[in-house]
Amino acid sequence: MRRDEIEPVLRAALEASLEVQRGLDAARVSAEAEAPALVPLPESGVGAARAMAELVRRAEGRAVASAGPRYFHYVVGGVTGATLAADWFASALDQVASSATGSPLAVDLEEAATRWLAELFGLDPGAWTGVCTTGATTASLVGLGAARQWWGERLGVDVGEDGLAGLPRPAVLTGGFVHASVIKSLSMLGIGRASCERLSLDNRGTLDLDGLERRLASMGGQPAIVVATAGEVNSGRFDPLAAVADLCERHGAWLHVDAAFGIFARVAPEVADLAEGIERADSIAADAHKWLNVPYDSGFALVKQRALMAKTFRLVAAYLPPSTADGPRPRVPANLGPESSRRARALPIFAALLSEGRAGIRAMVEGHLRLADRLRELVSGAPDLELVDDTRLNVVPFRFVPPGVRRRDLDELNQRLGERILEDGRVFAGTTRYRSVVCLRPAIANWRTRAEDVELLVDVVRELGAGLAGGGAAPTSRSPRP
Ligand SMILES: Cc1ncc(COP(=O)(O)O)c(C=O)c1O
Repeated sequence: MRRDEIEPVLRAALEASLEVQRGLDAARVSAEAEAPALVPLPESGVGAARAMAELVRRAEGRAVASAGPRYFHYVVGGVTGATLAADWFASALDQVASSATGSPLAVDLEEAATRWLAELFGLDPGAWTGVCTTGATTASLVGLGAARQWWGERLGVDVGEDGLAGLPRPAVLTGGFVHASVIKSLSMLGIGRASCERLSLDNRGTLDLDGLERRLASMGGQPAIVVATAGEVNSGRFDPLAAVADLCERHGAWLHVDAAFGIFARVAPEVADLAEGIERADSIAADAHKWLNVPYDSGFALVKQRALMAKTFRLVAAYLPPSTADGPRPRVPANLGPESSRRARALPIFAALLSEGRAGIRAMVEGHLRLADRLRELVSGAPDLELVDDTRLNVVPFRFVPPGVRRRDLDELNQRLGERILEDGRVFAGTTRYRSVVCLRPAIANWRTRAEDVELLVDVVRELGAGLAGGGAAPTSRSPRP
């Protein structure tokens, strides 16, 4: 390693990054190239410049344009200029963001960014402790970790100290919208995947609210953890949060809300009603790398009882700052979440909120809602497409239903269509199983996405679908525009 390598390699990285960003609007979305052969670890290094050049070479055709406007899979935002620059700067500063001793800057900005997020979502910033995480999965780990501590204390046990041995199986009650990441968190916390009881009314996964009430009443005062979803991954649907909060209050249950992307409904008045009641939760998990368009990976948890976070995640060692997370300002984020060593993830969040402001975020979210409306309109108007659900947010489940194909063959056809779309590479949209059928579930969350990208998605689906169904390729009038 040589000091004089730094400037040229950073300039090369800037140039390569600019090249990527300039090409994103027109880029093929999925990877197409073969992976280069794996070579043995070199004995002598090639130096920073050649290592960077090798990375650029390897990225060609192998990187997915997930930061681009036609990546509709999962729920993924793109990086903005402000968030990408802030992420680089965070790496250049290379802060130990575990405590204010390690980095006063990182902790100042984590407190500021999570406070601003609370303000953005109309939550009382004084009522919540925020912590940055790698994503909504780890944010749920934080919220459910605090819930587990609360649950143990209700049974007279400090689970952080003594574990779960000897305790009954915790009851975790959800609807059918529950995301896989919540189940994973339950496993990581030792609560167990099988502790999750899904109370669902239909093939959408609609929460059985009466069933939830009956189940809570049946617990005879024993504590329960309720997990509600704000933004189901296939449809963007919400559990009725206010009604769930009423039940939790009445029965003394913990309410955790997985709001990975749905919390952004709070910034757009036309859909804010969907997320009404989230302010009454005990813990919330959400992502910044989804609708805030912060680079991967970035999530955050908001929890009302900070002391419970600290009892679960406390990190104690003689060489570390004292872990008095119960003090007025904890300033030791490593005591509030799973990571001990942590990067300054708050910097890009802070930059996103400062650069766009409330109005900018609202305009982006509302723009995506318009694009989702446009997609619904195009699907509804096409004779060979069918909306699988009538939804209001930014996820639009639909499938290809050409005339002449038997209904029972549609799942297989749509499965193959999903594979063809990824091979084709003009747009990126995967399949899921929702309402008992295989369908596409494009999500619109990237600031770059325009109406023509959504229109191209529909064209590509119809063209490739027609090819698979044997009807010949319907010509597309639209192709990606640089
Ligand atoms: C509703 C919901 N919860 C949780 C997650 C998991 O988020 P992450 O991958 O950031 O951990 C997702 C991801 O799509 C999601 O849609």
